[in-house]
Amino acid sequence: MARRLGIAVGLTCIVLVVTAAGQQKPQFPEELVKLMEEVQIRFKPLQDAARFSKAKFESAAKHEELAQHATRIAELMKQTTKFAPEKDLPDKPKKEWNETCEASAKHALELAAAARKQDYSGYRAAFKRMDAACTRCHEVFR
Ligand code: HEC
Repeated sequence: MARRLGIAVGLTCIVLVVTAAGQQKPQFPEELVKLMEEVQIRFKPLQDAARFSKAKFESAAKHEELAQHATRIAELMKQTTKFAPEKDLPDKPKKEWNETCEASAKHALELAAAARKQDYSGYRAAFKRMDAACTRCHEVFR
Protein backbone atom coordinates (compact mmCIF):
# COMPACT_ATOMS: atom_id res chain seq x y z
CA MET A 1 0.00 0.00 0.00
CA ALA A 2 2.72 2.43 1.06
CA ARG A 3 4.72 1.44 -1.98
CA ARG A 4 1.83 2.09 -4.36
CA LEU A 5 1.33 5.49 -2.79
CA GLY A 6 5.04 6.13 -3.24
CA ILE A 7 4.82 5.27 -6.93
CA ALA A 8 1.73 7.45 -7.38
CA VAL A 9 3.44 10.42 -5.71
CA GLY A 10 6.55 9.82 -7.81
CA LEU A 11 4.58 9.78 -11.06
CA THR A 12 2.70 12.94 -10.10
CA CYS A 13 6.02 14.71 -9.50
CA ILE A 14 7.33 13.67 -12.91
CA VAL A 15 4.17 14.92 -14.60
CA LEU A 16 4.44 18.28 -12.78
CA VAL A 17 8.10 18.75 -13.66
CA VAL A 18 7.53 17.89 -17.33
CA THR A 19 4.56 20.26 -17.54
CA ALA A 20 6.50 23.12 -15.94
CA ALA A 21 9.45 22.60 -18.31
CA GLY A 22 7.13 22.61 -21.32
CA GLN A 23 5.59 25.92 -20.30
CA GLN A 24 8.86 27.69 -19.68
CA LYS A 25 8.91 31.07 -21.41
CA PRO A 26 11.76 33.52 -21.83
CA GLN A 27 12.40 35.41 -18.60
CA PHE A 28 12.72 39.18 -18.70
CA PRO A 29 14.11 41.43 -15.98
CA GLU A 30 11.59 42.78 -13.47
CA GLU A 31 12.49 46.35 -14.46
CA LEU A 32 11.51 45.68 -18.09
CA VAL A 33 8.22 44.07 -17.03
CA LYS A 34 7.43 47.20 -14.92
CA LEU A 35 8.38 49.47 -17.78
CA MET A 36 6.03 47.66 -20.18
CA GLU A 37 3.25 47.94 -17.59
CA GLU A 38 3.56 51.73 -17.64
CA VAL A 39 3.70 51.63 -21.46
CA GLN A 40 0.48 49.61 -21.46
CA ILE A 41 -1.35 52.14 -19.23
CA ARG A 42 -0.29 55.08 -21.41
CA PHE A 43 -0.94 53.23 -24.68
CA LYS A 44 -4.64 52.64 -23.95
CA PRO A 45 -5.92 56.27 -24.18
CA LEU A 46 -3.73 56.80 -27.26
CA GLN A 47 -5.32 53.77 -28.91
CA ASP A 48 -8.83 54.85 -27.93
CA ALA A 49 -8.28 58.27 -29.52
CA ALA A 50 -6.91 56.65 -32.70
CA ARG A 51 -10.30 54.96 -33.05
CA PHE A 52 -12.31 58.19 -32.68
CA SER A 53 -14.08 59.70 -35.68
CA LYS A 54 -12.50 62.90 -37.01
CA ALA A 55 -15.24 65.00 -35.44
CA LYS A 56 -14.86 63.33 -32.06
CA PHE A 57 -11.06 63.55 -32.20
CA GLU A 58 -11.22 67.25 -32.91
CA SER A 59 -13.88 68.13 -30.36
CA ALA A 60 -13.47 65.65 -27.50
CA ALA A 61 -9.93 64.24 -27.46
CA LYS A 62 -7.70 65.52 -24.65
CA HIS A 63 -4.90 66.53 -26.99
CA GLU A 64 -2.41 67.74 -24.39
CA GLU A 65 -2.84 64.61 -22.23
CA LEU A 66 -2.39 62.41 -25.30
CA ALA A 67 0.77 64.30 -26.21
CA GLN A 68 2.14 63.72 -22.69
CA HIS A 69 1.39 59.98 -22.79
CA ALA A 70 3.08 59.69 -26.18
CA THR A 71 6.13 61.70 -25.04
CA ARG A 72 6.53 59.47 -22.01
CA ILE A 73 6.22 56.34 -24.17
CA ALA A 74 9.06 57.70 -26.33
CA GLU A 75 11.24 58.04 -23.18
CA LEU A 76 10.30 54.53 -22.04
CA MET A 77 11.13 53.11 -25.46
CA LYS A 78 14.57 54.73 -25.28
CA GLN A 79 15.04 53.08 -21.87
CA THR A 80 13.99 49.74 -23.35
CA THR A 81 17.17 49.77 -25.46
CA LYS A 82 19.25 48.90 -22.40
CA PHE A 83 17.40 45.57 -21.99
CA ALA A 84 18.60 44.26 -25.35
CA PRO A 85 19.32 40.52 -25.11
CA GLU A 86 22.90 39.65 -24.18
CA LYS A 87 23.10 36.96 -26.82
CA ASP A 88 22.88 37.97 -30.46
CA LEU A 89 20.89 35.01 -31.82
CA PRO A 90 19.99 34.49 -35.51
CA ASP A 91 16.25 34.45 -34.77
CA LYS A 92 16.52 37.14 -32.04
CA PRO A 93 19.11 39.62 -33.32
CA LYS A 94 20.13 42.49 -31.03
CA LYS A 95 19.90 44.83 -34.01
CA GLU A 96 16.17 44.10 -34.24
CA TRP A 97 15.71 44.99 -30.58
CA ASN A 98 17.50 48.32 -30.98
CA GLU A 99 15.73 49.18 -34.22
CA THR A 100 12.24 48.52 -32.87
CA CYS A 101 13.04 50.62 -29.77
CA GLU A 102 14.22 53.49 -31.95
CA ALA A 103 11.29 53.20 -34.34
CA SER A 104 8.67 53.12 -31.59
CA ALA A 105 10.31 56.11 -29.83
CA LYS A 106 10.44 58.10 -33.06
CA HIS A 107 6.82 57.40 -33.98
CA ALA A 108 5.70 58.12 -30.42
CA LEU A 109 7.21 61.62 -30.75
CA GLU A 110 5.43 62.09 -34.10
CA LEU A 111 2.25 60.99 -32.33
CA ALA A 112 2.80 63.59 -29.60
CA ALA A 113 3.34 66.32 -32.20
CA ALA A 114 0.22 65.33 -34.15
CA ALA A 115 -1.85 65.30 -30.92
CA ARG A 116 -0.67 68.85 -30.08
CA LYS A 117 -1.51 70.02 -33.62
CA GLN A 118 -4.87 68.25 -33.34
CA ASP A 119 -4.02 66.66 -36.68
CA TYR A 120 -6.35 63.67 -36.98
CA SER A 121 -4.86 61.91 -40.01
CA GLY A 122 -1.29 62.57 -38.83
CA TYR A 123 -2.21 61.18 -35.43
CA ARG A 124 -3.71 58.01 -36.86
CA ALA A 125 -0.76 57.43 -39.19
CA ALA A 126 1.79 57.92 -36.39
CA PHE A 127 -0.18 55.65 -34.07
CA LYS A 128 -0.23 52.91 -36.68
CA ARG A 129 3.53 53.17 -37.22
CA MET A 130 4.26 53.14 -33.49
CA ASP A 131 1.96 50.18 -32.93
CA ALA A 132 3.67 48.25 -35.74
CA ALA A 133 7.07 48.76 -34.06
CA CYS A 134 5.70 47.51 -30.69
CA THR A 135 4.22 44.44 -32.36
CA ARG A 136 7.37 43.72 -34.33
CA CYS A 137 9.50 43.51 -31.17
CA HIS A 138 6.93 41.33 -29.39
CA GLU A 139 6.77 38.95 -32.35
CA VAL A 140 10.52 38.47 -32.37
CA PHE A 141 11.39 38.44 -28.67
CA ARG A 142 8.47 37.38 -26.54
C1 HEC B 1 12.43 46.24 -28.08
C2 HEC B 1 11.35 45.34 -27.80
C3 HEC B 1 10.01 45.88 -27.38
C4 HEC B 1 9.37 46.99 -27.85
C5 HEC B 1 9.82 47.97 -28.92
C6 HEC B 1 8.10 47.04 -27.15
N1 HEC B 1 7.99 46.00 -26.28
FE1 HEC B 1 6.40 45.57 -25.10
N2 HEC B 1 7.36 43.97 -24.36
C7 HEC B 1 8.62 43.54 -24.72
C8 HEC B 1 8.97 42.36 -23.97
C9 HEC B 1 10.27 41.60 -24.09
C10 HEC B 1 7.88 42.09 -23.14
C11 HEC B 1 7.74 40.92 -22.15
C12 HEC B 1 8.06 41.39 -20.77
C13 HEC B 1 7.13 40.77 -19.81
O1 HEC B 1 7.32 39.60 -19.52
O2 HEC B 1 6.17 41.46 -19.41
C14 HEC B 1 6.88 43.11 -23.40
C15 HEC B 1 5.65 43.20 -22.77
C16 HEC B 1 4.67 44.11 -23.08
C17 HEC B 1 3.35 44.13 -22.49
C18 HEC B 1 2.85 43.17 -21.45
C19 HEC B 1 1.99 42.17 -22.14
C20 HEC B 1 1.55 41.10 -21.24
O3 HEC B 1 1.81 39.96 -21.60
O4 HEC B 1 0.96 41.41 -20.20
C21 HEC B 1 2.67 45.16 -23.05
C22 HEC B 1 1.24 45.58 -22.81
C23 HEC B 1 3.57 45.80 -23.99
N3 HEC B 1 4.77 45.14 -23.98
C24 HEC B 1 3.23 46.91 -24.75
C25 HEC B 1 4.11 47.54 -25.62
C26 HEC B 1 3.78 48.70 -26.40
C27 HEC B 1 2.43 49.39 -26.41
C28 HEC B 1 4.89 49.02 -27.11
C29 HEC B 1 5.09 50.14 -28.09
C30 HEC B 1 4.82 51.47 -27.67
C31 HEC B 1 5.91 48.05 -26.79
N4 HEC B 1 5.40 47.16 -25.88
C32 HEC B 1 7.16 48.02 -27.36
C33 HEC B 1 9.43 44.11 -25.66
C34 HEC B 1 9.14 45.26 -26.39
